[in-house]
Amino acid sequence: MTPLEPNTVIKYPALVHEMHDALRDRLFPNLPEKPGRKDLLSRLLGTGISEAMYLLDQLHASLDQEGDVCELGVAQGATSALLANELRNTSKRLWLYDTFTGLPKPSPKDQLKDDIFGLGSIERYEGQMQCEAEEVQTRLAAIGIAPDRFVLQPGLVEATLTAGLGPATVCFAYIDFDFYAPIRHTLEYLHTHLAPGGRIVVDDYDFFSTGAKTAVDEFLQAHSGKYQMTLPRPFAGHFCMIERAKRSFWRRS
Ligand SMILES: C[S@@+](CC[C@H](N)C(=O)[O-])C[C@H]1O[C@@H](n2cnc3c(N)ncnc32)[C@H](O)[C@@H]1O
Repeated sequence: MTPLEPNTVIKYPALVHEMHDALRDRLFPNLPEKPGRKDLLSRLLGTGISEAMYLLDQLHASLDQEGDVCELGVAQGATSALLANELRNTSKRLWLYDTFTGLPKPSPKDQLKDDIFGLGSIERYEGQMQCEAEEVQTRLAAIGIAPDRFVLQPGLVEATLTAGLGPATVCFAYIDFDFYAPIRHTLEYLHTHLAPGGRIVVDDYDFFSTGAKTAVDEFLQAHSGKYQMTLPRPFAGHFCMIERAKRSFWRRS
């Protein structure tokens, strides 16, 4: 029995491999091949295959820029392993943030839009999705990622992602916190630490809690002209992609 077996789901691998090749052929022609990727795609839990392909495309589009990579809201670390695998031949570190006590208390800006676990109210989601930090470490060790290639930051992101504690420069961030307050906090941190040309993917945009969309929309309004937001094809899920301008998107050259 491998250490990962109890919590590992392996989605029908042949189908996942086919989807990877089809999406790469049709939507992501610039995405390089990577050994180990298809196996890690079939082990994803919280992130769908199509969304993961968008994530990888955004990640690779940012790798020429200065800075590290972050996943904010990691849960069991299945997506963290996918990202870490892509960074093997780079000098970039992967910064991983989670309370490891599950979702915090929702704010008044978090209204229940899609009752994903059928709990009946947004307040009942407090403490849901709790995972152990050790599970993340086990997943990364299982694919041979050395401990010095990643930084695991347990606790509320509002306390752990601050100037001096967080990465100095970020080229890519995947924000998957679900609720308003941590997403807004993280976006404001990234505003002062994301490299020009850097990319952010925010999960659950207009899905589950209204807070994710509100946080993104407020952020884009507060920093108008500095970022460009795009949405994926509808089949890929509910998330948005944000690119930081190398200079203002709206300034005439
Ligand atoms: C949807 S899960 C993340 C799933 C993961 N990205 C994946 O792909 O499998 C959301 C995670 O965000 C974490 N989280 C939510 N709010 C947080 C906060 N303020 N600080 C730190 N972690 C938080 C929760 O503990 C939970 O594990």
